[in-house]
Amino acid sequence: MRIIAVINQKGGVGKTTTTLNLAHALSLMDKHVIALDMDPQGHLTSGFGIQQNGLHGMDEVLLENKSLSSLGFKVRPNLSLVPAGERLGELEFVNRGGLDKGYRLRDAIANETAADIVLVDCPPSSGLLTMNCLLAATELLIPVSSDFLALHGLSRLIRIVNDVETRLQKKSKKWIAVTRFQRKRLLSRQVRDKLITVFPGRVLATPINEAVVLAESPGHGQTIFDYKNTCQSAVDYKQLAEDLLVGRTCKEADSERLADVG
Ligand SMILES: Nc1ncnc2c1ncn2[C@@H]1O[C@H](COP(=O)(O)OP(=O)(O)OP(=O)(O)O)[C@@H](O)[C@H]1O
Ligand SMILES: [Mg+2]
Repeated sequence: MRIIAVINQKGGVGKTTTTLNLAHALSLMDKHVIALDMDPQGHLTSGFGIQQNGLHGMDEVLLENKSLSSLGFKVRPNLSLVPAGERLGELEFVNRGGLDKGYRLRDAIANETAADIVLVDCPPSSGLLTMNCLLAATELLIPVSSDFLALHGLSRLIRIVNDVETRLQKKSKKWIAVTRFQRKRLLSRQVRDKLITVFPGRVLATPINEAVVLAESPGHGQTIFDYKNTCQSAVDYKQLAEDLLVGRTCKEADSERLADVG
């Protein structure tokens, strides 16, 4: 089972958009997927068309030790969602349990064997919720938006992750997904090139283009595959899902694909 945390402490880089659409793309490729909303904002939950009011989910998994399967919803064929739940933010204030409280998510997932892939939408912070995501994950998927400030945040994130992993003797595979890509903008291409140079073999081959449909679909409780199945953004996320399944990164990418850039 692959446990992939979609993680970046920087806000608005496309974590939730990527979790939502990648989860659906993978389920359409016959993978059994569980998506976990670990952000108290609950945007992944509403993106799948589930109303968060009065609901419980990851809050009770982490605070009350309930099982993922007892709180999951089947949102699409092959795809379950565990919503954030109203009380999820309370986890940040739990001070009992020492180091163990960082392992609650890992332990909850360990009891769950039905999935091929668990995708975790992380909050934009570096507190206990994020620590739980980090410690549960076997792989990290780091969305980086194509602007220069994103690179600053990224080196900080990598430093934190490496520190934690060294201290806890843990090693997860790291993937970078370029999001909000504008192929006509020089800055976008420079940011992508820089990432490929600094993290060789880690940048997934397909950049996700900036597109208004990706911003619109969650407002309708829909993924891009529900909303506009034939658009370029659906192709982008389908290809990104393939990249992740076969480990296709920029080095091995078909260079033709971006040859029109320039
Ligand atoms: N490729 C894209 N094209 C256009 N808009 C996008 C794209 N990706 C994300 N957005 C929009 O940008 C905003 C931030 O995206 P998203 O919520 O996925 O980021 P996030 O990293 O999860 O944010 P947060 O840190 O607040 O959880 C949203 O309004 C979303 O619809
Ligand atoms: Mg989010």
